[in-house]
Amino acid sequence: MIAKARIVGTGSCVPKKVLTNKDLENMIDTSDEWITTRTGIKQRHIAQEGENNSDLAISASKKALEMAGIKGKDLDLIIVGTLTPDMPMPSVACLVQDALGAINAGAVDISATCSGFLYSLSMADKFVRLDPNMKVLVIGSEVLSRRTNWQDRTTCVLFGDGAGAAVVTGSNDEKRGIISTHLHADGSVWELLTIRGLGTAHPVNEEILSKGWQYIEMQGRDVFKHAVRALESVTNEAMVAAGWQNEDLDLLIAHQANIRILEYLRERLKLPKDKVFINIHKYGNTSAASIPIALDEANRSGKLKEGDNVLMISFGGGFTWAGVTMSW
Ligand code: ACO
Repeated sequence: MIAKARIVGTGSCVPKKVLTNKDLENMIDTSDEWITTRTGIKQRHIAQEGENNSDLAISASKKALEMAGIKGKDLDLIIVGTLTPDMPMPSVACLVQDALGAINAGAVDISATCSGFLYSLSMADKFVRLDPNMKVLVIGSEVLSRRTNWQDRTTCVLFGDGAGAAVVTGSNDEKRGIISTHLHADGSVWELLTIRGLGTAHPVNEEILSKGWQYIEMQGRDVFKHAVRALESVTNEAMVAAGWQNEDLDLLIAHQANIRILEYLRERLKLPKDKVFINIHKYGNTSAASIPIALDEANRSGKLKEGDNVLMISFGGGFTWAGVTMSW
């Protein structure tokens, strides 16, 4: 029997500053009522000047390491899912490696937008299956507020900042751990959700800035349709792979992009409310950080019990989508 990879510690961190829907009412033409009914979001956390992606990632990681009962030097690999790194070079993972004193670890960022954490976790799973002694720190961390156009009401109400982390290593108990991972992408429709500028295709200049290409652009309605279809499909695929019927599922942790998507999935899976984790009202859409923050909250609040069947699913720009099943 090949060893399973298991999450043995989680942590999360969000900036202190909270921006409520009421605050947004004073900034743009919107209302708490519109944002709440269309998205389920009531507030989001926003990084202050000087507060960077790596700061959030480091703070979340320290909590995950503490729970796992290990030190930075015990880590073999650090993988960070993010679309908003501090800078193009070095990676956020290298900054985390340094701050944790992870002198024995490799470090790499993964660019898979909102699926960044599940892509990273899937890779950690493969490493640990090959070498169960490996200790891999998997992080999802974002400062989306710096890539948000605060004049564009169709996007700026949606996003928030934060980080979540998980320590993955070989499971001593063969029943517990990651069961299956499922990664997907469709780059043909990338323009529906993009940050066009400030990469090498469109480097910074006045024209790019005046067009607002440094910010997130989204065709919300189209993305919504793709997201529902992809999440439903990866859910079916993962449930079959794990050999689960709907009633076997104990907790669904889906990317927190829109409460209506979460409700739709809950109905399709015929799950009671308490089996679908929801924290979008507190944080908005934090992209790659969304699932690890939710996982940490579920873990620390005692919602996750030993042996629980957990399905995690994500969808984001690219498009990318992913699913991971695990027995907690
Ligand atoms: N306040 C008030 N009115 C608004 C706002 C706002 N903040 N934003 C848009 N509106 C208006 C629009 O202008 C439009 O008005 P019109 O009918 O006069 O043209 C109306 O509200 C409806 O707009 P829609 O875009 O059709 O609203 P919709 O119900 O589709 O909700 C939303 C928009 C919330 C963005 C939704 O489409 C959505 O959640 N999409 C999916 C997002 C997602 O899943 N993203 C996944 C990954 S994110 C990532 O990868 C970073």
